[in-house]
Amino acid sequence: MQSVPLKAETIRHRLTTRRLGRSLHLFEELASTNATAFTLAGSGATHGTAVLAETQTAGKGRLGRHWISPPHLNLYCSVILKEPTISRHVSWIPLVTGLALAEATRRYCDIEISLKWPNDLLYVEKKIGGILCESSSQGSRFSTCIVGFGVNVNCRETDFPEELRSLATSCLQATRQCHDRNGLIADMFNQLESWYDCVETEQFEHVRKSYVASCATLGRKVQVACVEGETIHGTAIDIGKDGALLVATVRKGQPHTMEIRSADVQHLRQLILPLP
Ligand code: BTN
Repeated sequence: MQSVPLKAETIRHRLTTRRLGRSLHLFEELASTNATAFTLAGSGATHGTAVLAETQTAGKGRLGRHWISPPHLNLYCSVILKEPTISRHVSWIPLVTGLALAEATRRYCDIEISLKWPNDLLYVEKKIGGILCESSSQGSRFSTCIVGFGVNVNCRETDFPEELRSLATSCLQATRQCHDRNGLIADMFNQLESWYDCVETEQFEHVRKSYVASCATLGRKVQVACVEGETIHGTAIDIGKDGALLVATVRKGQPHTMEIRSADVQHLRQLILPLP
């Protein structure tokens, strides 16, 4: 079976959401769905509006990286969030987005997905999807969060540049089957709405426990490159009350737990601790 083209009508038909994905903009090619979502948000697009593209010419990854976006094979999507309650709890957004995407992918493609804190989707240690959240504010007021995600659905090993082949994978490579992207993205929108509802209703302990249960980072030796430029080595031990990664390390010869809120985290060795 070949990868079937995305179709807005087919996706809408499978939605159970109130708002998420109900306004859906599907493009054959964009520079970046996040960039287009920002433009649409600025010209009045409402909360829950989604932007999808069959390919991106300048797909953005975290930390200024490029997101490989071969045409008609994968999912490249951005969702516009404008609810003020979400803005107060924006640190949870990448985490609940990861939970929603993992749940939909597990269910729809029947593969085991885990999460690398804060926002990578993994299949057996290889990256199968990534999330890029970008916020804009007006003055001191938050106005919009754009949640962009890319999930490798039907691409083959040869669709990745050689240097990424040992690090990245897709649902097709995991299952040797082509998957229906229309059904999968609809299920993702359904899951996203129910997890964003959890954030709006402040069910953080439920979110935290669910994230812990799916998180491949906990119990691992990690190397953390902090945005301030410092690199820390330690063991990831828990998720904090606001979604931070808690890393046990040594400072000035003393045991010390660091709360990591924004960083590039690398898993170093095999599992060494039981999960909390
Ligand atoms: C990461 O580096 O892991 C985040 C990758 C996010 C990629 C997606 S693809 C759709 C959306 N539009 C973009 O330009 N980037 C995100």
